[in-house]
Amino acid sequence: MPSFAVSMSAPTRTDRPERSAHRPMSHGLRRVSGMAKIRPVYICNACGGEFPNWMGRCQSCGGWATVDEQPVIPSALRNNGVGGEASEALCSIDDVGSVPIPTGLDEVDRVLGGGLVPGSVTLLSGEPGIGKSTLTLQVAMSIASSGSKVVLVSGEEAPTQVAARARRLGAVPPALSVLDTTSFDAVSAMISRELPQLVVVDSIQTVRIVDLDSAPGSVSQVREVASRLVNLAKGFGVSVLLVGHVTKDGALAGPRLLEHVVDTVLSFNGDRSTELRFLRSVKHRFGPTADVGVFEMTGVGLQPLADPSRWFLADRAVDASGSVIVPVLDGHRPVLVEVQALVGERRDQPAHLGAQGLSASRLRLVLAVLERRAGHRWDGRDVFTSLAGGARSDDPGLDLGVALALLSAGTDRPLPPDLVVCGEIGLAGELRLPAQLDRRLQEAYRLGFRQAVVPLNSPEGPTGLHLHRCSTMVDALASSRLVASTAV
Ligand code: TYD
Ligand code: MG
Repeated sequence: MPSFAVSMSAPTRTDRPERSAHRPMSHGLRRVSGMAKIRPVYICNACGGEFPNWMGRCQSCGGWATVDEQPVIPSALRNNGVGGEASEALCSIDDVGSVPIPTGLDEVDRVLGGGLVPGSVTLLSGEPGIGKSTLTLQVAMSIASSGSKVVLVSGEEAPTQVAARARRLGAVPPALSVLDTTSFDAVSAMISRELPQLVVVDSIQTVRIVDLDSAPGSVSQVREVASRLVNLAKGFGVSVLLVGHVTKDGALAGPRLLEHVVDTVLSFNGDRSTELRFLRSVKHRFGPTADVGVFEMTGVGLQPLADPSRWFLADRAVDASGSVIVPVLDGHRPVLVEVQALVGERRDQPAHLGAQGLSASRLRLVLAVLERRAGHRWDGRDVFTSLAGGARSDDPGLDLGVALALLSAGTDRPLPPDLVVCGEIGLAGELRLPAQLDRRLQEAYRLGFRQAVVPLNSPEGPTGLHLHRCSTMVDALASSRLVASTAV
């Protein structure tokens, strides 16, 4: 849904385009006797914003004359009750068609709950340059290597470029073809003629339906292309994988409208300063959405990173103050991350607060609780916190790690190198149990950690992992050998 946060001042009589000159013709659907009033909706061609009234300037993106009327016909009018198909008992319907077929890339299959479902449409969204074309090409090559026909519709790159990239990634299977087009009609004709198992469209923003006036990538084009592809996929039982670019603020360029048109939405992101990439499912009609695929971008494409904890801890400086290890959850997967903190004096200028990879509002909360419940004041100090190795997390279980990293940095006393900590901090300074702590502790033990500071009601950890159970943050500070009364 578009954001209405930006409130526009009401246009004056002079800056509002004249209704008769600019307002599109009404579709004439107003009232049918005895039936509900038909309300047209008004949609912005630039950003997809939806409004109950026509306006000369889009309230959502500020574009002029971009809002057009679209008729909406209430369901009561769609059929006059005569003819049509009879309903069917749900239990008699066979669901063999919705069994996923593995792509052969384990990290992708993990996120998709097994693979791509025939007849389904999956949207892979991500910022330009993050690796969408590489990932989809790897999926295409993997499926084609089993002999299934795969067609890659390339509207962005020339077939020679695609072929060069494919050769870098490995042996190019003969069942993989490329279609160099931006025309929807050409894609549609290819699907009905060749019936591939998988069609990759890179990207949805380049495909164009000639009957529509708007430019490729505009809301009406993207939405119409996607819904026609959904019909083709369902009709022919072909899986379709769409690539979609997102803008910097994370919205799918033009429409987030696509999210309800397609069956599955995957987001692909990462920190471009590191080679780590994360694949998550934002919506998945065929299963749960919590699992995460982790990849490393290498010279030969995206390689699965089976053990992300080792990556995040690889450059850890043991015995350095301000460093704490926390097992966080990324989807269902426990991953160990290093919280780092640095506290500096600032006499003349305003103090600075920095949080990289974790939420600044949680950092403020932890600082406030440390001040009120444990007497540690931060006035006039620069406070920086970061998750090492480009990790990002908003797991509440990080709170205690942030508190201990700050205290450790402030006192310049390192924590024991075999210690992990995990717990959410409440406003009263109490420690709360984070989700799936037992699995997090297993992961910590597997990686060689032998003690953990955890909330009082923590489940048992693995044998060999000593638990320091604490009811409050102040107890936890003492347990981790940072004396609570130490002034920082
Ligand atoms: P690309 O898949 O083209 O991104 P997108 O389709 O999301 O715009 O990949 C972008 C980057 O990945 C590009 O900077 C080059 C790099 N890359 C590698 O590092 N290794 C590889 O094997 C490939 C194919 C690309
Ligand atoms: Mg690309």
